[in-house]
Amino acid sequence: MKIIKLDAIDSTNSFLKELAQKSVLEDFTIVVTKAQRAGKGQMGNTWASEDGKNLTFSILKKLSNSKTKDQNYLNYAVCLALYEVFSALNVPKLSIKWPNDIMSANKKLCGVLIENSFQKNTIKQAIIGIGVNVNQTQYPQELAGATSIKNCINKTIDLNHLLEKTTHSLQKYLNLFEQESFSLLDQWYHDALYKKDMPTTFKDLNNTLFMGIIKGVSIHGKLQVQLEDDAIKEFGIKEISIA
Ligand code: BTN
Repeated sequence: MKIIKLDAIDSTNSFLKELAQKSVLEDFTIVVTKAQRAGKGQMGNTWASEDGKNLTFSILKKLSNSKTKDQNYLNYAVCLALYEVFSALNVPKLSIKWPNDIMSANKKLCGVLIENSFQKNTIKQAIIGIGVNVNQTQYPQELAGATSIKNCINKTIDLNHLLEKTTHSLQKYLNLFEQESFSLLDQWYHDALYKKDMPTTFKDLNNTLFMGIIKGVSIHGKLQVQLEDDAIKEFGIKEISIA
């Protein structure tokens, strides 16, 4: 496993993607940085993180036989690996908020941005970007929904040690993905799913609020919500958010 350690970069995902285009990289090459100047989040959002206090890194996962239709399980594998690491640290009230936020109670601890490249019907490579809030204790108003490991367990965490634990867990779960242990991944992801089976307020594209109950996630990665008339409707990531 090759680790490239940087002091500062725009985005580890963008850096690793460009490097993989320009050169032949080993499977599981990791880029980690102390500071990210233009960190990318889900849906074109930015990822802000205080310099030197958090884990911001990306992993190149080369794939040979993984089918595009199964990409949802790659997301499950990554989330479950992170969940396992935080659980071993005794972070309380852990869950996975669809599609891939790791939560402690109602606050976000970690975000994931996976960028896949495809060839025909297969996934050729995945750039798995992970931002973990580790030792940062203050969050600006616009990140009021964020928390960190330190805020949750009252301990300062060694970032290198955490990176080692995380990559080890990712290797384990990515192996399960490559071995197509999809039903196990599916079961574990659903066991950890945030607000599953609980009445929840959602927001749709027009910012209209509505009530529903999360029943699960489809094999295509859509959130299945039971509405007030009992019908189950599926929503894509751009169509719904938990209010
Ligand atoms: C999200 O929750 O919106 C996803 C956040 C992903 C952030 C990580 S930090 C390391 C990697 N590089 C990026 O530019 N983004 C990901």
